[in-house]
Amino acid sequence: MENRPPDSPIDNEEGHSQETRRDFLKHSSLLTAYALSPSSLVNAAEMNGLNPPQADTVSIHIDINGTSRTLHVEPRVTLLDLLREQLDLTGTKKGCDYGQCGACTVHINGIRALACLSFAVMQNGKKITTIEGLAKAEASGSAHLHPMQAAFIKHDGFQCGYCTPGQIMSAVGCIREGHANSDAEIKEYMSGNICRCGAYEGIVEAVKEVKQGGQKV
Ligand code: FES
Ligand code: FES
Repeated sequence: MENRPPDSPIDNEEGHSQETRRDFLKHSSLLTAYALSPSSLVNAAEMNGLNPPQADTVSIHIDINGTSRTLHVEPRVTLLDLLREQLDLTGTKKGCDYGQCGACTVHINGIRALACLSFAVMQNGKKITTIEGLAKAEASGSAHLHPMQAAFIKHDGFQCGYCTPGQIMSAVGCIREGHANSDAEIKEYMSGNICRCGAYEGIVEAVKEVKQGGQKV
């Protein structure tokens, strides 16, 4: 095998030198990093001239908070970014964007899920409920808060409120799953939702009250 120094030129088919091995490795690393980058870095790379071909959009049909929608999304877009940036449903929060904090919790077909870890294109034909649609979805269009929202207010289950939409969606999921039978069980099954303000005591009390009240969630 030919053993060239790192800066020796690489020849093209006609034998003309075009770029050094060092240049070639530099470009390959950039492209690999691009492929593995989160969207914010990809945007920065695009602005810096890397300019990959635009991905095609895909049509999806989803029910969002009781309204049927046909949407065109790029395959790389997460459900969280679709909700927040395309549909202005900013009640669902972006905390970590990689499955660690629970701030982005929504319901997909009635089951809690992390919107930052779900691609939008995977939701075709599904029913998505966000915090904006929780009361409406569960209380047949009445203007009342969902029982879990009311319980969070009653028990001071929040301080700054950033984690609260995710906490409430998760708390409803916790009861639906049958995992709210004791303080310990509630803490365990709510442990994927982080609260930097430490409002955990109030959150547990709120979940317990709704569970014990036997309201339909
Ligand atoms: S934003 Fe999804 S888990 Fe943190
Ligand atoms: S209320 Fe502030 S992070 Fe939970």
